[in-house]
Amino acid sequence: MRTVHTVRELRALLNSHRQHGHRIGLVPTMGNLHAGHMSLVEKALQQADVVVTSIFVNPMQFGVGEDLETYPRTLRDDQEKLEAAGNHIVFAPSVEEVYPHGLVQQTQVSVPGVSEGHCGASRPGHFDGVSTVVSMLFNMVQPNVAVFGEKDFQQLAVIRKMVSDLFMPIEIVGAPTHRENDGLARSSRNSYLSEQERAIAPALFGTLQATARALKDGNTDFAALESEAQTRLTAAGFRPDYYNIVNSLTLKPAQKDDAQITILAAAFLGTTRLIDNLSINR
Ligand code: PAJ
Repeated sequence: MRTVHTVRELRALLNSHRQHGHRIGLVPTMGNLHAGHMSLVEKALQQADVVVTSIFVNPMQFGVGEDLETYPRTLRDDQEKLEAAGNHIVFAPSVEEVYPHGLVQQTQVSVPGVSEGHCGASRPGHFDGVSTVVSMLFNMVQPNVAVFGEKDFQQLAVIRKMVSDLFMPIEIVGAPTHRENDGLARSSRNSYLSEQERAIAPALFGTLQATARALKDGNTDFAALESEAQTRLTAAGFRPDYYNIVNSLTLKPAQKDDAQITILAAAFLGTTRLIDNLSINR
C-alpha cells in the first residue's frame, strides 16, 4: 500500500493504473477509521481494481464552534487498518495542499434542494463544504466509482444530485450503516461520549425503530410521530436537534402515499451531536 500526500504524487500513481486499464475506486473519509469506514473500503474493493481511500479533515465543512481542532487524527492506525484490508492507495493531503489559496478564495460547489433542511439547517454551510471538497477529490482522483455511507443519508443525497447535475462520470455507490451490537451507528464522534452518554446513545436508533414500526403499522400522523419521538429522546437524556419523517428521494416532508420513507434524526448528548436514520418501504 502506498501513502501519498500531494496531488502530484497521486496523479503519477494513478496514471500508470489508468494506462493498464484499471478501474479506480474512491472512498472519501476524514480518517479515524472504524468498521463502518472499512465496510466502504471492502465494497470499493469489490467494484474496482485499485482503491484510493482519502483521509482529509476538511475545514470547509466545519462551522464556527464545531470540532475541527479536536476531530481525532489517527493516520498511523488508519494506515494499518487500510493495509490489512487490502486498500491500495492512501491519499492524505495537508490543508495547504487542498486549499493553497485559503478557504475564502476557493471556488465552491453548492447543491440546492436536498442540502436544505435537516443537517443543512442545523449546520449552515456544511454541505457546501462537503460538495466542494468531494468534487475536488473527484477531480484529483478521477475515480470510476466512489462509495459513501447511508449513515450520512443527506450527504449521500447531496453527492448523488451533484454528480447528476454536473454530469460527473462517476458511479456513486451507497453502503448500509454499520452499527455496534447495541444498535448505535458507528461514528468517529462516538469517542467523545462519556460512559454514561454511551449507555444512553443506542436509544437514538431505538427511537427510530419505534417510529419505523408505527409507520409500518399504517400510522400516518407524521407530526405526532415526530413529536412523540422527540419526547422519548428527551426522556432518555438527549437534546434533540431534529427528527424528520421525509420522502427518501426528495428529503421533503413525507406524504401519506409515499412508498419510500426515511426518518432523519440528530440529537445531542452533552456537546456531542449524533445523527442516524432509518428507511422503510411501505
Ligand atoms: P467521515 O465522517 O469520515 O465518513 C466517511 C464515509 O464513511 C462517509 O461516506 C460516511 O457516510 C461513511 N460512514 C461513517 N460512518 C459509517 C457507518 N457507521 N456505516 C457506514 N458508513 C459510515 O463523511 C465524511 O467523512 C466527510 O463528509 C467526507 C465525505 C469525507 C467529505 O469531507
